[in-house]
Amino acid sequence: MPEQIFDQQSTGDHAATSPPKPISRRNMLMVLGIGINAVAATLFSVPIIGYIFAPARQREMRADLAWVSLGQITQFPEGETRLATYRNPLVRPSDGDTANIPCWVRHISADKWQVFAINCTHLGCPVRWFPQSGLFMCPCHGGAYYADGARASGPPPRGLFEYDYKVENNELWIKAGQVPTLASPPSQACADQPKMCECA
Ligand code: FES
Repeated sequence: MPEQIFDQQSTGDHAATSPPKPISRRNMLMVLGIGINAVAATLFSVPIIGYIFAPARQREMRADLAWVSLGQITQFPEGETRLATYRNPLVRPSDGDTANIPCWVRHISADKWQVFAINCTHLGCPVRWFPQSGLFMCPCHGGAYYADGARASGPPPRGLFEYDYKVENNELWIKAGQVPTLASPPSQACADQPKMCECA
């Protein structure tokens, strides 16, 4: 016979007025066990559900926020390469200044542009433009790139990554929802000049 917390039983006419039926210790432990398991299962499922739905959420954000303005085209005189900064469209409140992403804008001619990711294609250090020599130089291991982003010398395996761009309402826009990497599909610039995107 199971141990009982309350040692009382109701019978016959007294059933309506007698105290609730006692719960056995075994039943109480079983209910407690089920409750703890339910809480544990919920806690474990949160990251799994997040993992499953994150790509869809990111795709949604990218579709909405892919194009970002770098400003009026008058800021980028023809024949010059200038530094620009945009705010990462996938920013989170905790990102602060790290969401401000620099890039190099090269205005070739009236409607021809190139916008380069600032990161060296070797190990990602920020490259600098030197108009005197007409080269982008990487301070980390001496990588060098020509003005059109093609690899010139050093350890980089290829030219600088480029953003897709468009000019609309006198503003220069780049597709910033994706960081260009080796895994990215080739940009329009790569399609126009495939030599630039080949490995050396
Ligand atoms: Fe630029 Fe190594 S990171 S050359």
